[in-house]
Amino acid sequence: MPVFPIAPAELNDVLSGSPEGASRAREWCALLEGGGVLYFPQTPVPVPDADLAFLLSRQQTGSNLHKNIAYKPNRDLLSGVDRKSAASAELKKLREIMRRYSAAVDAFLSRFLIPYDRHWRLDYASFRPIEEEGRDLPLRRRNDLLHTDAFPTRPTRGWRILRFFHNIHPERTRDWVVGAPFPRIIGNFTPGKLAVPRPEGLVSGASKFAARAAGLGGLLPHIKRTPYDEFMMQLHNLMKEDSEFQLGCSRQKVQFAPGSSWMVYTETVPHAVLAGQYALEQTFLVDPAVMVVPESAPVRVLEKMAGARLV
Ligand code: SIN
Ligand code: FE
Repeated sequence: MPVFPIAPAELNDVLSGSPEGASRAREWCALLEGGGVLYFPQTPVPVPDADLAFLLSRQQTGSNLHKNIAYKPNRDLLSGVDRKSAASAELKKLREIMRRYSAAVDAFLSRFLIPYDRHWRLDYASFRPIEEEGRDLPLRRRNDLLHTDAFPTRPTRGWRILRFFHNIHPERTRDWVVGAPFPRIIGNFTPGKLAVPRPEGLVSGASKFAARAAGLGGLLPHIKRTPYDEFMMQLHNLMKEDSEFQLGCSRQKVQFAPGSSWMVYTETVPHAVLAGQYALEQTFLVDPAVMVVPESAPVRVLEKMAGARLV
C-alpha cells in the first residue's frame, strides 16, 4: 500500500518539535524515500480564500491564465504565460499568489521534514488548471502514462525530485495511478532496454558526437547533464513508450480528495494523472546525502549497478 495518510494529531506532534515528533518525521522520510506517497486528507498548507477564488475563476473570465503555469521562486517569475495577451494586473496577482504559495510550502516542509534540515533547493511551483482527462499531448509529454520524472533542461545531478501537490478543485478528486518504486522496477528497463549508465569520461565523447550530429552543438553546453541525468531522462521517455510496462506493471489507483495534499519522490515513483482539474504543486530538489535511507536514492542505486560514480 503506497499511500500513507497522516492524521492531524500525528502532524501536530511533528510540528510541535517534540522528540516523539522528530522520530515520527524520520519514519515519514523513510516511507517517502522508499516510494510511499504521504497523504494529507486536509492540506496543511491552506490557500487563502481570495487566492483560491482567483485561481478557480480564470476559466470563466476568459483569461489567458488558464494554461499550466510555472513559477520560478528564485527569480520571482511566471513562465508559460503569454505576456501580451494576459492583463498585467492579472499577471501581477497570479505572481503574488504563487509567491505566497511557494513560500508557505517551503515553510511547512522546513518544520515537517525535520531530518532534511532544509538541505534542498526550492525549484519551480506550478498552477495546473487544465482538465487532465483526455488531454491531447505528444507521447513524451503525456502525464496519463506511468512515468518517473526527469527535467530535460534542469539536470538535478543526483538530487532527488520531491513534489508537494494540492488538489484545489472544490468538488472533484484528482485521480492518479502509482507504480512500484525505482529499485523494484528498474530491472524491467536496464540493462536490457537501457544500458546501465557509465561514468562521465566514458560517455562524454559519444554524447558530444551525437549532439554535433543532431546539429545541437551550440545548444547543449549550458545544459550539463551528468550520466545520471542522461539515464533518468531516457528512463522517463522509455517508460512512456513501453506499452508492455504501461499495461503490465503493478500499480494502484489513488483518488486525492478535494482540498487534500500529498507528496512523493516523483523521480522514483512511477505515476500518472488520469483525471482532475485545478492543482497547485511545489517542487523541491533534495540532497541525496541527507536521506534517512541513503541507499534509496536512485543515484546510489545506479552507482551500485555501474560500480562507479555517476555525478
Ligand atoms: C505529473 O507529474 O506527472 C503530473 C501530476 C499531476 O499534475 O497531478
Ligand atoms: Fe510526472
